[in-house]
Amino acid sequence: MIYNQDCIEGLKRLPEECVDLVVTDCPYKIIAGGVTIEPRKDEVSGILQKRIISDGTNCSNKWLKKDADEIPCAVRAGKMFSHNDVSFAEWLPEVFRVLKSGCHCYIMINGRNLKELQTEAEKVGFRFVNLLVWKKNNLTPNRYYMQQLEFILLLRKGKARSINNMGTSNCLEISNIIGKKKHPTQKPTDLMRIFIENSSEKSEIVLDPFFGCGSTLVAAVQSGRHYIGFEIDEQYFDIACSWLDGVEKEIERGGA
Ligand SMILES: C[S@@+](CC[C@H](N)C(=O)[O-])C[C@H]1O[C@@H](n2cnc3c(N)ncnc32)[C@H](O)[C@@H]1O
Repeated sequence: MIYNQDCIEGLKRLPEECVDLVVTDCPYKIIAGGVTIEPRKDEVSGILQKRIISDGTNCSNKWLKKDADEIPCAVRAGKMFSHNDVSFAEWLPEVFRVLKSGCHCYIMINGRNLKELQTEAEKVGFRFVNLLVWKKNNLTPNRYYMQQLEFILLLRKGKARSINNMGTSNCLEISNIIGKKKHPTQKPTDLMRIFIENSSEKSEIVLDPFFGCGSTLVAAVQSGRHYIGFEIDEQYFDIACSWLDGVEKEIERGGA
């Protein structure tokens, strides 16, 4: 079930302890003090991406700058998408309430917002389990160190539980999506499937309160799970509907 709705409203209508897992890539502050940070003149700007270069006989991996028109204009303007002003304290209590006890919650976050997210999550009753790292094949230039990593805060509600594949490393090396994305911060379904398959069982319910173009939900379908999701932006909601529709039909026909 998916809703084109503000999750703060929508989550309140869900009964207590009705989902088996939460996996989300939530909105967070990307502009310090409400001011767009422009790169300094002496700084590298743009996004570097590892690409396979071939001269016809040999192939090699090189870090190349993405063309300006490959970078979504919303990112160039210093803003990822229009709805990113919701605070952790507004939605975390509802996510905690609807999650079953003894279950996991994965939240994708950057380094700058990690401390605030963990503090707010622990205030509502979540317990810290682990900090996972997603190592990407692209780099974002930065004044300090170029960014190649994103973080995933793994939390639990209630009693501790192990993940299904205890051989999984906490450093997950998965290629980022190259080329045209369905959403400026679209996440690879292969990454989301790792979380889903490690922390839920077939036919269980996965919640993503900020699903964007639907990567978590598509990964849930591919893993044989049910899903509940919210997305406030109608454009991304529609994109998710048609993506899910295509994947569900393909699975019905016996495809991947
Ligand atoms: C970081 S993006 C998620 C991208 C997603 N992981 C994907 O692969 O497409 C966060 C999304 O949350 C949505 N959003 C922001 N505030 C919301 C709210 N209060 N309720 C529901 N969705 C919201 C934004 O429109 C945005 O699409």
